[in-house]
Amino acid sequence: MDRNQHLIEKRESSKIGGGEARIKRQHDQGKLTARERVTLLLDEGSFQEIGALVEHTSTSFGLDKMKFPGDGVVTGFGTIHGRLIYVFSQDFTVLGGSLSKTHADKICRIMDLAMKNGAPLIGLNDSGGARIQEGVVSLAGYADIFYRNTRASGVIPQLSVIMGPCAGGAVYSPALTDFVFMVEDTSYMFVTGPNVVKTVTHEEVTSEDLGGAKAHAEKSGVNHFTAGNDVEVIKQVRDILTYMPQNAEELAPMTTQFEFTTAKNKAIQSILPDNVNLPYDIRKVVDSLIDDDSFREVHEDFAKNIVVGFARLEGRTIGVVANQPAALAGVLDIDSSRKGARFVRFCDAFNIPLLVVEDVPGFLPGTDQEWRGIISHGAKLLYAFAEATVPRITVITRKAYGGAFDVMNSKSIGADLNYAWPTAEIAVMGAKGAAEIIFKREIAAADSPEDKWKEKEAEYADMFANPYRAAERGIIDEVILPEETRAKLIVGFKMLENKVESLPKKKHGNIPL
Ligand code: HXC
Repeated sequence: MDRNQHLIEKRESSKIGGGEARIKRQHDQGKLTARERVTLLLDEGSFQEIGALVEHTSTSFGLDKMKFPGDGVVTGFGTIHGRLIYVFSQDFTVLGGSLSKTHADKICRIMDLAMKNGAPLIGLNDSGGARIQEGVVSLAGYADIFYRNTRASGVIPQLSVIMGPCAGGAVYSPALTDFVFMVEDTSYMFVTGPNVVKTVTHEEVTSEDLGGAKAHAEKSGVNHFTAGNDVEVIKQVRDILTYMPQNAEELAPMTTQFEFTTAKNKAIQSILPDNVNLPYDIRKVVDSLIDDDSFREVHEDFAKNIVVGFARLEGRTIGVVANQPAALAGVLDIDSSRKGARFVRFCDAFNIPLLVVEDVPGFLPGTDQEWRGIISHGAKLLYAFAEATVPRITVITRKAYGGAFDVMNSKSIGADLNYAWPTAEIAVMGAKGAAEIIFKREIAAADSPEDKWKEKEAEYADMFANPYRAAERGIIDEVILPEETRAKLIVGFKMLENKVESLPKKKHGNIPL
């Protein structure tokens, strides 16, 4: 046979994965194939495959008769919006996308290239886990990947897209990466599946309830972004990458294509209710400050009492961390502290300036929180902010009470600029609780303790439920009108654009994990 023709045929055979019947099954389940996904993900015609002809070397359990060129994973590089990207895409039609040592080696090769060349790594996961026939060598293959995920953490962005089953060790690579995307109804992640759960704990649970996109978006927080199908999730990945730099040495790309509806500046006045105890949606405040339609919320359905996400300010990426008075009054608890801390660390690792919008009544009290370790978890957020060296600006819209005031990017833990609106209340605690403690005897001795309490509450509120005590002491830099905020942020971040701050020499810190 003509040698060139031979190559062409070999190439073609590598493209059909596990064969037409299995491809049909994949499509019938509403899933795209590994190659279709890569084609959609990358800019048209940009994909360059590496290792299309690689085959496994196992012979146990008849594997020697089950060889598929590529061994169940498509790997290579290409571009997204013209920027270099490395990708692997597991092919469920080949032995359930299971991970052999050879399959792992292909992924590691891509990871090594991504690290050396400073470009993001995207993993499209669709795999039944370790290739059972291979035994322990496939476990070593997983460990090779985990090792590289960890080494690459904070060096290049790593995104994991879960597009099918992801069980056993297969969940730990995504967990080590920066962001996890899941597809509703067709993807799930768990350390042990429903059958093992039933045997060990006698719980009856479906795969979806145990580890579907919704469960991980709302309950565990493992899933950062949810999409309705394969096409939608790939669009999300392409979009979110535009907010990130290629690696930790670079800045996120800037766009000149931004708009800002100036009417938002006026409307911002009316977002806060007159009654300070009523909730409002902090996302409306955030939206009024940033470029139109630029907010990309991360972890939208998890720990809703804090809102985190990427946004743009005059075309530049910023990371937003905002207390959400519309959920649990915006209180800080275990989950919101973890959520906030992880996002702050991503932004700091990848040179993304931070905007904090603060309205926080304090930490959530109670045995549940204390016994589950709110002290250590709250300290994660404190640590993450205190360690961050990127430009950081805080805007206090309303409450900034107690320890939560310190934690939420206060000046003393390194914020570069702190602003407060005239509605801000910066104090050790709310006026009612404060009056009860410091005027306890006076209240008890009064003819009408209730009236006395109210009187003392008003006295305390008058003194501290405002931004001016903090402004007098320089604890905040300026009290600003809400409609001035966007302009202040633009000038502030511009002033901080060349900020250089380094941490003391150390191997690494010891964040309270
Ligand atoms: C080899 C596998 C496989 C695996 C699936 N297949 N998983 N082959 N090793 N791990 C093969 C099946 O034999 C089948 O081959 C094809 O893939 C499709 O599988 P089905 O079962 O028909 O598909 P479906 O009904 O959709 O179920 C998918 C599944 C199920 C839920 C993923 O296959 C499953 O439970 N697989 C085993 C999951 C598992 O326990 N993995 C090991 C985890 S332990 P044919 O030829 O029929 O198409 C682990 C340890 C790592 O990963 C630890 C690292 C630290």
